[in-house]
Amino acid sequence: MENLIPVINKLQDIFNTVGFEAIHLPQIVVVGTQSSGKSSVLENIVGKSFLPRGTGIVTRRPLILQLIHSENIEANEESGENPWGYGVFLHRGEHKYYNFDDICLEIQQDTDKVSGGNKGISAEAITLRIYSPHVLNLTLCDLPGITRVPVGDQPEDIESQTKEIVYNYITNPNSIILVVHAANTDLAVCEALKIAQQVDPEGLRTLMVCTKIDLMDAGTDAVELLTGKIIPVKMGIVGAVNRSQQDIISKKLIETALKDEAEFFRRKYPGLAAKNGSIYLANLLSHMLMNHIRKCLPELKSRVTHLTFTYQNQIAEFGYELTEKGPLLLNIIHRFSSSYAEAIEGRAKNIDVSKLY
Ligand code: GDP
Ligand code: NA
Ligand code: MG
Repeated sequence: MENLIPVINKLQDIFNTVGFEAIHLPQIVVVGTQSSGKSSVLENIVGKSFLPRGTGIVTRRPLILQLIHSENIEANEESGENPWGYGVFLHRGEHKYYNFDDICLEIQQDTDKVSGGNKGISAEAITLRIYSPHVLNLTLCDLPGITRVPVGDQPEDIESQTKEIVYNYITNPNSIILVVHAANTDLAVCEALKIAQQVDPEGLRTLMVCTKIDLMDAGTDAVELLTGKIIPVKMGIVGAVNRSQQDIISKKLIETALKDEAEFFRRKYPGLAAKNGSIYLANLLSHMLMNHIRKCLPELKSRVTHLTFTYQNQIAEFGYELTEKGPLLLNIIHRFSSSYAEAIEGRAKNIDVSKLY
């Protein structure tokens, strides 16, 4: 089952490059208000610091993050060291980023390039793949937070713009919605959960993460919140303690943060410790994704077959002959989206299309 995900990722790349979404692919989407801790949650799942985080609106474009578990990462040519892993951006071709600070910088620079320097947002996604022996096979989407009041260069309709981006990702019935809620704010006004309930009324693909458990008022107890007594979430509510702004400034290591988080739950909520925290969340998500893909497979397969059939007829009408079945998708893309052909040629070299069938 694990081998399926690289194939799904390749399909996703091809369709992203040509700019149409012919197939709804499974992915995990984080939603929440600004500064609820979405980027921090994702970093903890990945186990590495590389996302711009902070107070205010930091994530200003969707980030599609494809984690690919790979055991044999070649040593870094420059340093000769065995790296933790490396990143590759879809918009930067084959270039491998071994330094995760550079990944963070590239996200910031490309965000500024597309969304402007002054808090503007854009719906145009950044696609980043991370190859590492230390990650689970997961595809995650980090989204700009739901924002009420415009700041900087943000337009008056910033709220509807941010919501529209969120809807675009979560209406996909194949997405798993990770609602991120800061535990020190009122759950009754959790806009993200309300939006999730609109597209997933039965709550079959919505999971909640309550961050900032460490910042809850003295005397308040997380037990009611985390056991769903305040507002139930069918798939579960997982508590998390991410790094604080101070921790970010002092460059606290993620390994240390994960240990401290586990210790926090063991000490303060021993009865809940086994089913909370970032490591538990990552495992839970991985299992959910596997089950989800398993459920989607028949539909996915029939859609690809249908597409193949449709375009085969169309291509035949134009008088092209297709001898091999393998490169059909690429042929389709080449012939019907000529304006993208160059971009695809660059990307397609390393994609073994025969594996898509
Ligand atoms: P986003 O806007 O939803 O992506 O939120 P960020 O991940 O950028 O986090 C916003 C701010 O909250 C940052 O300063 C984080 O350090 C801080 N933060 C996030 N999660 C926690 C947490 O669990 N505890 C504490 N104390 N701070 C957190
Ligand atoms: Na933020
Ligand atoms: Mg963010």
